[in-house]
Amino acid sequence: MSFPKDLLGIADLTGPQFLNLLKTAQILKKELGKKGKNQPLLHNKTLVMIFEKPSLRTRVSFETGMTQLGGHAIYLAPADIQLGVRETIADVAGTLEKMTDGIMARVFKHETLLELSKNTKKVPIINGLSDLEHPCQILADMLTILEEKGRLKGISLAFVGDGENNVTHSLALASGILGIDFRVASPKGFKMLPQVSEQAKILAKKSKGQITELENPKEAVENADVIYTDTWISMGDEKTRKKRLKIFKPYQVTQALMKLAKKGAIFMHDMPVYRGNEVESAVIDGPKSVIFDQAGNRLHAQKAVLAILMK
Ligand code: NVA
Repeated sequence: MSFPKDLLGIADLTGPQFLNLLKTAQILKKELGKKGKNQPLLHNKTLVMIFEKPSLRTRVSFETGMTQLGGHAIYLAPADIQLGVRETIADVAGTLEKMTDGIMARVFKHETLLELSKNTKKVPIINGLSDLEHPCQILADMLTILEEKGRLKGISLAFVGDGENNVTHSLALASGILGIDFRVASPKGFKMLPQVSEQAKILAKKSKGQITELENPKEAVENADVIYTDTWISMGDEKTRKKRLKIFKPYQVTQALMKLAKKGAIFMHDMPVYRGNEVESAVIDGPKSVIFDQAGNRLHAQKAVLAILMK
């Protein structure tokens, strides 16, 4: 199966490519479970990782993933290259293309990724989070839902909180691609960007999924299979912290809210979690929470991305 050069947004993948990637992740995960069965699929290959923002899961999973695949990862901290300040994005891209086999970047502006992509011919560009999307997170999320529920098509996934958010955007688009019933409850002024919502709805028409935008969290979680939330203050939103804490207060995922979902519903969060803000501690630590399996799946889903795009 052929794949695009880059993974900038989740809708870079077609349905079959998405499912193929998840299948690859499952195979790699299973093989890792059998001791000594690491696949050196990227022997002698190097991934360079550019970070404009902090990271725990993304950095560790990409770096560990490259080691397990027989390759190597280089970490560039925010101060190291200062994309677009110390030198142009085009010059950074041109240089890295001559030395490495893949570029992963966590950036403030999604346009930075587009610029990296435009200025590289062969080396894949992987979005490790931008203001617009977080596709690698969502691949791990779908792997987790598949493991928990045994299917993706027809699953009802309720997101409660900030709609104008990278994770929400990628979840909506993935739901459109995979035929998921996606409901997002967010306050006025914090809805998904119109272009993302439209694209997700167009994709959903084809896959028989559904994209529903609501304001009332109760309506969104009613009978849902999965309840998902993310921080109210994403990296870069710190200036509006006070205002956000107030506006989002009614959107906290509580034990009472969880009760409205299906009996076997699971709770998901991309982390870092701010206990007592977007979710009650009791939910995070409760039996429905799968957040550590979800975090662990970043490793397996990304190994599939790396193995496929960098081979
Ligand atoms: N929406 C969050 C995701 C963190 C992994 C942020 O952008 O900070």
